[in-house]
Amino acid sequence: MSKENIRTEIEKLREELERHNYLYYVNSAPEISDREFDQMMDRLIKLEKENPEFASADSPSQRVGGTVTKEFRQVRHKYPMLSLGNTYNEEELRDFDERVRKAISDEFQYACELKIDGVAIGLTYKNGRLVQAVTRGDGEQGDDVTTNVRTIRSIPLRLSTGEYPDEFEIRGEIFMPRKSFERINTELQAQLEGEGYDEEEIAERLLKNPRNAASGTIKMQDSAVVAKRKLDCILYAVLCNADPFKTHSEALEAAKSWGFHVSEHSKVYDNLQGVLSFINEWERKRYNLPYDTDGVVIKVNSLLQQSDLGFTAKSPRWAIAYKYKAESALTRINSISYQVGRTGAVTPVANLEPVLLAGTTVKRATLHNEDQILKLGLYEGDMVHVEKGGEIIPKITSVDLSSRMSGAKSFEFIHQCPECGTALIRKEGEAQHYCPNSLKCPPQIKGRIYHFISRKAMNIDSLGEGKVEMLFDKGLIANPADLYKLKYENLIGLEKVIEDEETGKRKKISLQDRSVKKILKGIEDSREMPFERLLFAMGIRYVGETVAKKLAVHFKSIENIMQAGVEELIKAEEIGDKIAESVHEYFKDPLNINFVQDLKSQGLRMESDISTNNTVLSDKLEGLSFVVSGVFSNFSRDEVKTYIEQHGGKVIGSISSKTNFLLAGQEAGPSKLDKAGKLNVQVISEEDLLNMINSGK
Ligand code: IVH
Repeated sequence: MSKENIRTEIEKLREELERHNYLYYVNSAPEISDREFDQMMDRLIKLEKENPEFASADSPSQRVGGTVTKEFRQVRHKYPMLSLGNTYNEEELRDFDERVRKAISDEFQYACELKIDGVAIGLTYKNGRLVQAVTRGDGEQGDDVTTNVRTIRSIPLRLSTGEYPDEFEIRGEIFMPRKSFERINTELQAQLEGEGYDEEEIAERLLKNPRNAASGTIKMQDSAVVAKRKLDCILYAVLCNADPFKTHSEALEAAKSWGFHVSEHSKVYDNLQGVLSFINEWERKRYNLPYDTDGVVIKVNSLLQQSDLGFTAKSPRWAIAYKYKAESALTRINSISYQVGRTGAVTPVANLEPVLLAGTTVKRATLHNEDQILKLGLYEGDMVHVEKGGEIIPKITSVDLSSRMSGAKSFEFIHQCPECGTALIRKEGEAQHYCPNSLKCPPQIKGRIYHFISRKAMNIDSLGEGKVEMLFDKGLIANPADLYKLKYENLIGLEKVIEDEETGKRKKISLQDRSVKKILKGIEDSREMPFERLLFAMGIRYVGETVAKKLAVHFKSIENIMQAGVEELIKAEEIGDKIAESVHEYFKDPLNINFVQDLKSQGLRMESDISTNNTVLSDKLEGLSFVVSGVFSNFSRDEVKTYIEQHGGKVIGSISSKTNFLLAGQEAGPSKLDKAGKLNVQVISEEDLLNMINSGK
């Protein structure tokens, strides 16, 4: 293909992709399937990679991110980014209306919009192309977050049609849709649980609410992570020197026609009565929106009247925000339950009289620990205020003392484990109570086994929590090592009825030939899991996937880790005091040493086969990623991987559209070759690799 043809194809792909992007993310009316979209995107990425001279910052390929910004450039706003005055009730709103009425003698209208709870952004377009995106900062200057903003699908990188000004700024709110927020937190929670964090530590690390999440995400250094977090943006103001519009609502209509996502819920009213009806209408309806809103913004619609009214030092006189009250409900606390986790941490949970809050029924609220109960001063049967400020689990914010029943007793934290009766302990300086009976306490044992078989650990997916519970109850397993001792005759015909705590639904598990064989095969296959996965599966507190890998790479074997002191442990990459102490403690316990011996005698992998040759020979392969398959004549498979790494390349396990090369030796996997073909990943030979290293890229 000639260069000219390639350029034409690239241009066409970019235009088409932007159009479909708009149809999908702004209009919610896609014309092609996700698969077709992905194929077009893969083709564009391939062409751009092969023809770097046609690279462009506003290509749709930039939406996947990949740029790392160490520090964001400070940019001065062309028009200062002010904030709004707030009102909290009808009276304050009437005062605002009065002031406006006094200043404008003519008739006027109000435009009402929902106040989206996110972070403000100013986008500058020149000749229809997004050139800069700046956060509010202090209102005078903000951070240049353009690379991150380019990953937000609903923000056009190029405007396709319309009579837009040569240069303008458009302002709006970047937010995280509740769905993205919940997905990220669910994943993060699973990860932290896997690392053995207790509930309070997890609560501290989760994203607090969608607004916080949006503001944190937009300032992340790696734009590829930003892309995955699926932010969205709704625009609410157009600014330019030559003012082509008469009213605010007209400007937003125009912005919509240029391809911007503007709110479909805005309305114009002739008087305050209308404004109040809008506020009332959305007070409850807003919970059905896919994003958080915290009020209504009321703006004088005529731009001429706006400029007559002007600004105070902080905010415009022509606009005001009406803020809804925090979402809160009053309900009775019926009891407190105590949950015991796999680390023995005991967490109190309040059982509430079911109540409707922010669109969902709330039955439980977390109490974290004893201090929290004392701080709130909870008595049995108290009426409590529950809030859900965007967090996933609602919390009790205060007690309604006026309705406390006479003779009611304060809640006392339990002294014994609710599951095994052992006296609880609370270490100095820690807020959490623990059940120290780790060897015999059922939820701790079951929790450790669930963790051991989980997907990112030993991945024994033929066993689920229900089956583990059954095997434990029947006395067949008391720790993860026992899984490897199970035989066909132990399992066949086992039955148990399990009740789901949440829904109360009953389910019968019954093991027949097929499922028994599947379970045994799953267990058998897991013996081959790499050492770092086993290390993670052991469930040492604070040893997550990444830490396990770092320990495996640094120490190579379980023996070395067990023998290492705290000082030695912290020498490994990313291992700090807290982790080192936890690992050291773990291997001091004879029970854990026995557990390791047990796993070892079952033939599980206790040594790492991660290559650790750190010698740098060149940077010829810098920034390139390789998948390796087949047999080679000059190297073993591991040697060739090390060789790539020594020259700055990255070796990855499976092919994606981002992979640069598939290095194929003899007998390379047909499925890998097939996938490389489909994703347009270049296939190279051992000889090609040597040429790349010995000449140029
Ligand atoms: S208009 C001069 N409209 O609320 C300020 N703001 O406290 C004009 N916001 O910084 C702002 N939704 O981040 C406007 N429909 C909307 C809004 C909105 C959310 C945010 C914005 C602003 C803050 C004002």
